[in-house]
Amino acid sequence: MALKATNPTTTNAWKKLQAHFETIKSQHLKDLFSADAERANDLTVKWEDFYADFSKNRITTETLDLLVNLADELELKDAISKYFDGDVINATEGRAVLHTALRAPKDAEVFVDGENVIPEVHQVKNKIKDFTNLVVNGDHKGHTGKAITDVVNIGIGGSDLGPAMVVDSLQFYKNQLTTHFVSNVDGDHHKEIIKNLDPETTLFVIVSKTFTTQETLSNANSIRAWFLESLPKEAVSKHFVAVSTNIESVKNFGIAEANIFPMKDWVGGRFSLWSAVGLSISLALGYEHFESLLEGAHKMDEHFKTADFKENIPVISALLTVWYNNFFQSESEAIIPYTQYLNQFATYLQQGIMESNGKSVDRDGNRVNYQTGTLIWGEPGTNSQHAFFQLIHQGTKLIPTDFIGYVESLYGNKDHHNKLMSNYFAQTEALMNGKTEAEVLAEFKGGAMSEEVISKLVPFKVFEGNKPTTSLLIQKLTPESLGKLIAMYEHKIFVQGIIWNIYSYDQFGVELGKQLAKSILAELQDEKTKQHHDASTSNLLDFYKVNC
Ligand code: F6P
Repeated sequence: MALKATNPTTTNAWKKLQAHFETIKSQHLKDLFSADAERANDLTVKWEDFYADFSKNRITTETLDLLVNLADELELKDAISKYFDGDVINATEGRAVLHTALRAPKDAEVFVDGENVIPEVHQVKNKIKDFTNLVVNGDHKGHTGKAITDVVNIGIGGSDLGPAMVVDSLQFYKNQLTTHFVSNVDGDHHKEIIKNLDPETTLFVIVSKTFTTQETLSNANSIRAWFLESLPKEAVSKHFVAVSTNIESVKNFGIAEANIFPMKDWVGGRFSLWSAVGLSISLALGYEHFESLLEGAHKMDEHFKTADFKENIPVISALLTVWYNNFFQSESEAIIPYTQYLNQFATYLQQGIMESNGKSVDRDGNRVNYQTGTLIWGEPGTNSQHAFFQLIHQGTKLIPTDFIGYVESLYGNKDHHNKLMSNYFAQTEALMNGKTEAEVLAEFKGGAMSEEVISKLVPFKVFEGNKPTTSLLIQKLTPESLGKLIAMYEHKIFVQGIIWNIYSYDQFGVELGKQLAKSILAELQDEKTKQHHDASTSNLLDFYKVNC
């Protein structure tokens, strides 16, 4: 069954939120805390090893009630059932959206076109497990009889970002294999990676859902040519495997069927790390850790499906985005993990969130008359504090920020961890409270500076505060807790799309540039192929051709 299509701004709940916004927009978070002693408890959700504190957001319990009313009026509950049950909610591509089925237990039942997909999901997982064990144990030998030491994932977008982020984030749990990621069509990218590799001990995993992506096929072809400079054609079967839905094209590339890890078209690229696309994760961490990642995600799926919306971490998180984006008119959201391990997390979420919800046409095909997808950015703390935090504290833009922190560090260095986490806590407090003129003046008191100089400096030293943050405090970075965290953002994306009445699971916006690049490439490769361009592009092309 299709998703309903209602313009959210026409609902009663939206109108009530608009009126409520007028009463709350200039209230300071400090005052909201003073007015309600229970606020911190009431606006915190504790679930498993997650402590999600939403109380430093510019809301009251009434705001949350109204936002939940909005979700109810837009039939979020019904949409969630359709999402998990395999309805064709990616209507513009005619597909179900079932990354959740990839982490469902063996005895679950999820039907696509009348067929339960779970047995096949587990068949592929077994294939991943068996192959992983052979490679990690050294039983899968290369053509010359040597064990594999290096794994190179060749893919882009969802076929790169998810596996790359997870492998980097969970490097503490890695085995002896060294993992590399080649994504950019920039020929210098793969050259830099293969220059130190020994083809005899390297396994290449070509990942492309469609197996038509220019970047991935160019890199795969160039790398295979480099490989064949030192090893014969028969060696390819020991060193190249592929993950794709397009089995025929993979075979045409020269990879035997036994070396193909299939995936289904109901797995979107940016949600595919749970599928065979996660093969590099399994190889790098070992299958058990890959399984724990999936188990964590499944636990979050259950939380999302069953928890009351007022106790539901992804739902509240998504509704807050709507609140800031559509009422406060804020345009971006920052994601700041207080662990260096999650260095690639914001980059990964940029595809997940912006490719999904960067849409301006609603589910009826009309242009929306309200804002949709937000800009996503971020870097780990404390590094980001020394880079862009100035703008979050004292700039003119309102930037709701997620702070992700861990109670335990992985190597157990308490001294460093306390320093790291004191920054995590301090920043959210500083962003909320700010610093008043009186506080600034008090700091100058008793110092050597003249009254005149002080009064000139004061405005620059004042912090307005009232900057909203969400604090996610997780016990420890493990494969399971990372699975939960990623799934939390996946469901947040879904809820946003339902509220904004858009289709979150297509990505037509990336096609136009790809098409034009193809025809321009033909021009660059063949002097006789001339096309009409605007004056700017013509000049640029001429300059490039003359000088290259
Ligand atoms: O950038 C568009 C896109 O289709 C992404 O959605 C996808 O993750 C990426 O390209 C790679 O696609 P494929 O896995 O088919 O090579």
